[in-house]
Amino acid sequence: MPDGHKISRDHALEAAESRLTTSVLGMTLRNPLIVASGPITDGEERIRRAFKAGAGAVVSKTIFVEEQPRILERTALFGAGMLNTTLYSRRSLDAWRNALRRLKEDGVAVIPNVHASTPDKLGALAEQIAEIGFPAMELGIACPHDSGHERAAPSVIAQYVASVRRRVSATITVKLGASEGLYSQASAAIDEGADALSISDTLPALLVDTDRWQLVCSGLAGYSGAGIKPIVLNAIYNLRSSGITCPIIGIGGIETADDILQYLYVGACAVQAYTIFNGSRFEKISKISRVLDHWLMTKQTSVERLVLGNRP
Ligand SMILES: Cc1cc2nc3c(=O)[nH]c(=O)nc-3n(C[C@H](O)[C@H](O)[C@H](O)COP(=O)(O)O)c2cc1C
Repeated sequence: MPDGHKISRDHALEAAESRLTTSVLGMTLRNPLIVASGPITDGEERIRRAFKAGAGAVVSKTIFVEEQPRILERTALFGAGMLNTTLYSRRSLDAWRNALRRLKEDGVAVIPNVHASTPDKLGALAEQIAEIGFPAMELGIACPHDSGHERAAPSVIAQYVASVRRRVSATITVKLGASEGLYSQASAAIDEGADALSISDTLPALLVDTDRWQLVCSGLAGYSGAGIKPIVLNAIYNLRSSGITCPIIGIGGIETADDILQYLYVGACAVQAYTIFNGSRFEKISKISRVLDHWLMTKQTSVERLVLGNRP
């Protein structure tokens, strides 16, 4: 290729990168689209693949190093999204720490997601994960189909956040569900030192299989995908209207560049997506990013400018 072409292609790439760049959780992301926590991020190779495909960062599957019930974990795709009853990663602490160390050495942007059965245990786990040196971690304390529903109480969220904050200096984002009581939960987390919020986890839901005359997934499940997007947008909009100013990462039903823009409009600084990549379909990242970049170029703006509240 003649040098002139190469230089102009390099300039074009640099311009695209700077339009898509956003700073959040103490990190400068090359792309506001982060791959969210779930089975497709459960382990080193899956995280590497997601990052290689162009994600701004990758959130690990929730690291939970205690005994978990041996339930049959199910997922069910339907028109408006997906139900799942999966719990947490079953990999050991050593396996995660070794994997995270290698990922860190190789410059992969990972946000470890952690949870434990008590605030004290979560503080201890978070400390062991923080030692590896990633700038941020996510507390995955709001899984709706984990049987410990009292965890959603603001006072319990406060205890979890306080315990981690005492032991960890990394940026902490607390993952919450876009359900009733979100404002009180978010305020409790922020009061105890959370730096940011990740909204939303899956929402509690169920479906009925009328042929078998039984509940799909055997009962209460977590609902994700396209159908939850308007609910989560509304929740983030309401948090912003109520005066919550910390960075918010928007999560729920993102499938297109336009979905990302809708989240930026209501006040998110970056976004995560999971269901759209179900089955490790990470090749979708580059198409979504290209469309987003084209929109930003046409409007002569950037993700950072939109996050700062500038109209396109
Ligand atoms: C099968 C499945 C497993 C998930 N596991 C986790 C998890 O371990 N920890 C967590 O914080 N969120 C988990 N999530 C929630 C997602 O990270 C995300 O918050 C949610 O699916 C909404 O985003 P989406 O509509 O883009 O999928 C899971 C979601 C699905 C569908």
